[in-house]
Amino acid sequence: MAMKRSSASRKAGASAAVSRSGRFASGPSHDVAAFSESISFDWRLWRQDIRGSMAHARMLARIGILTAKERDEILHGLESIASDIERGSFDWKSELEDVHMNIEAELTRRAPAGAKLHTARSRNDQVALDMRLWVRDEISAVDEELRDLQRSLVELGAREPEVLIPGYTHLQRGQPVAFAHHLLAYVEMLERDRQRFRDAARRANVCPLGSGALAGSTLPLDREGVARELGFVDERGRPQVTQNSMDGVSDRDFVVEFSAAAALTAVHLSRLAEDVVLWATAEFGFIRIADAYTTGSSLMPQKKNPDVAELTRGKSGRVLGNLMSLLVLLKGLPMTYNRDLQEDKERLFDTSDTVRSCLRLMAAMLRHTTIVPSTCARAAADPALLATDLADYLVRKGVPFRLAHHAVGAVVALAELSGRPLNQLSLEEMRSASDRFEKDVAEVFDLKAAMQRRNLIGAPGSTEVRRQLRRWEKALAPKA
Ligand code: ARG
Repeated sequence: MAMKRSSASRKAGASAAVSRSGRFASGPSHDVAAFSESISFDWRLWRQDIRGSMAHARMLARIGILTAKERDEILHGLESIASDIERGSFDWKSELEDVHMNIEAELTRRAPAGAKLHTARSRNDQVALDMRLWVRDEISAVDEELRDLQRSLVELGAREPEVLIPGYTHLQRGQPVAFAHHLLAYVEMLERDRQRFRDAARRANVCPLGSGALAGSTLPLDREGVARELGFVDERGRPQVTQNSMDGVSDRDFVVEFSAAAALTAVHLSRLAEDVVLWATAEFGFIRIADAYTTGSSLMPQKKNPDVAELTRGKSGRVLGNLMSLLVLLKGLPMTYNRDLQEDKERLFDTSDTVRSCLRLMAAMLRHTTIVPSTCARAAADPALLATDLADYLVRKGVPFRLAHHAVGAVVALAELSGRPLNQLSLEEMRSASDRFEKDVAEVFDLKAAMQRRNLIGAPGSTEVRRQLRRWEKALAPKA
């Protein structure tokens, strides 16, 4: 939603903002107003701000500060403001600085009782509350998107469960793996990301309202009632409220934790993107991405570029930078609230927007990607991938692994020297490296049998990979 600016906002400074009435003879200078406004980005907190204000108003009525009539006036006023914002017809004014004052000023214009809403509340605990609610809401959305990307990886793997590719270390061919096994590695990473977000949500889920500007309030607020109403409860339904008013208004750890979890997700996405970019090259040719998820070149007519993956890889830089910005933002702040904290929002919003769009686009791209079994099979057929199996063959015949490794190394060198694949050497040639090689050594190069032998928990063999695919399909099935 684009922010609608009023014409009045252009002459910011002319009219005094709510927070300045009384103490100040003039409004802020035009430059100061433009420098310090946050409405251009914090309008995004409007839902959370209104939700918080409603809970606060109900509580003020419970403790006798608002009459039932005043409370209802406020609640109706806030509801009508919410529907105006939703419709895009709310007039945000930058001279009112931020989302909190825009909504409160408009409320008071519509309902005089609105002037009582800010009783025992400061924008300091208000913004801390809004941010916690926003992070909490965002974490549920991110979790859904992480889950969907996991699902798209499982779907792609399950479409070709038998396709093998080389597994790489140092980007050198190592040992054969099921393509699905490689994809499931990312499913595991994303699962840890989900756990980290969930963990961050637990600490974000504590209500700071009632902390006031920094020192609470002299009025008998029902902090726990507000917390309960806003869903700040633990797994047993007990209200969670911050236990120190100074910490309550100055803490942004939950923003850092969200951003740190997001940064690691971005790193995972970037690694997946890099694999996709490699797989889509002519050199690998393991996958084909549908046209709609690629772009062309303005000069080279043959090009089909994996831009979604490249941009995902590139955008991870912003997310990592945002985390660093937040840490630096906080590190020198004295207690308690300092205006510096306003700088947390754009970093947080950008991180969440970026990671969420990468998650969505990568999932969609994978759903429009096909595995190319022929190129994968050609690469996986490289008998050198089974050199380790050859060493294991000798181990089974009683040869110590170090000696077996050495002997197979000699066989590999011999093959290389004579320009033949590993499985084309004669038994005599192999026996020159170790007399424990016998006729049955040929069976080592049966790729299918080799994969059947790789069935430990977490191994890339066919039976185990199918089991893992089933496990994830079940775990990621849409909740009934
Ligand atoms: N826009 C401000 C922020 O994001 C809200 C809190 C302002 N508090 C204050 N004491 N000026 O941090």
